Amino acid sequence: MHTFTVHHCGPIRATITIPGDKSMSHRSAMFASLAEGRSTITGFLESEDCLSTVNAMRALGAHIERSGTGTFVVKGKGGHFTAPATDVDCGNSGTTMRLLSGILAAQPFSSRLTGDASLSKRPMGRVIKPLTEMGARFNSEGGEGKPPLVVEGGKLIPLHYEMPVASAQVKSAILLAGLSAEGETSVVEPAACRDHTERMLQEFGISLDLGKADVNGRRRIALKGPQQLKARDFAVPGDISSAAFWLVAASAKAGSDVTMPGVGLNPTRTGVIAVLRRMGATIETAPVDPDAAEPLGAVRVLGSELHGTVIEGAEIPNVIDELPILAVAGALAQGTTIIRDAKELRVKETDRIAAVAGNLRAMGVPVTETEDGIVIEGGHPLKGAQLECFHDHRIAMAFAIAGLFAEGETVINHVECVATSYPTFGSTLESVLAA
Ligand code: S3P
Repeated sequence: MHTFTVHHCGPIRATITIPGDKSMSHRSAMFASLAEGRSTITGFLESEDCLSTVNAMRALGAHIERSGTGTFVVKGKGGHFTAPATDVDCGNSGTTMRLLSGILAAQPFSSRLTGDASLSKRPMGRVIKPLTEMGARFNSEGGEGKPPLVVEGGKLIPLHYEMPVASAQVKSAILLAGLSAEGETSVVEPAACRDHTERMLQEFGISLDLGKADVNGRRRIALKGPQQLKARDFAVPGDISSAAFWLVAASAKAGSDVTMPGVGLNPTRTGVIAVLRRMGATIETAPVDPDAAEPLGAVRVLGSELHGTVIEGAEIPNVIDELPILAVAGALAQGTTIIRDAKELRVKETDRIAAVAGNLRAMGVPVTETEDGIVIEGGHPLKGAQLECFHDHRIAMAFAIAGLFAEGETVINHVECVATSYPTFGSTLESVLAA
């Protein structure tokens, strides 16, 4: 078992290189494999989740060669994959399984998608339902929409779909299937969720009809099929969800000054910066090219005193992966922090509401767990503790950061899982503790 052993540290003054964005890395491997021709991907996140996607695309016949750290050369299959000889193992990655379901729905063969214990408990009904309406056939071997999934693809019909939850994975699965259906496929998202699929599909030559969001962020995205992706090179920026751990650590520690160059600043992902600024954090961004398909820039954060806030409603999809570390920020802030409308956290890699509540309590923070969120009474001194992360990478990293503020030692067990999204987190943490 691997553990993080963490103790209180002084101000954090560092330049931290943030590895590639997980969502964009998945999409770059999938879209380049779907495309006609040869694409070179740089800045690719070589984490377990994204490598599950690379291996899945290889199993479907795409030729993907690693030519250096984070650099992959992909020879795409022009939309026509070959039937996999064995099960396609999606590991811990919900993004791999859900987006791949959309791609496989249109392929004229059957594939079996499997995952680890955590993925095998996650709801796939949300993609099975619309993709079945488009003509694909699914068998949920785990029952009630749970993996393993057998996908029998074929000729699809277009679909107009109002998503019941704001999920970028569901939106992406439907749009990817829609590429092969004759006519217009559209998805309405109830609140803005990450739009990497829309931005990157356009980069790969696809025409999309992007509706305007209404006041609540409700928006329609449509495409006319059939359309074929064209190869192109793509540089993946740093993952703001990984940067979030250092944003919170540095903003809550007086005297800190941390710069992270080349971080993705897509507005559907920068909610964590907005929330921390609302809590009193000093964060500057220096966008390199705001008109780029995927904007990026340096992010600098200075130590401040944080105060509590409310995180709710349409802001939730924009911070969905950052809520565990924002809950830790709430514990470090003066006053009360309320997170609500975040029921989706219960169906992530673990039940993140229960995991955050239990670990904060173990560190001496008064919290109230609600059905769709958590209320945190901030400003109490944190005590070191022995904590579990429930094989969830973001819980492991969020509580390693909490340990930097606690009195005594904090040990987080079973932290192997951080390799799914941020394999170098442990070494960066060590350098912060050693400084
Ligand atoms: C992701 C979308 C989000 C997020 C996940 C990655 C993606 O999930 O939590 O880590 O790459 O599309 P949902 O869209 O299901 O909320």
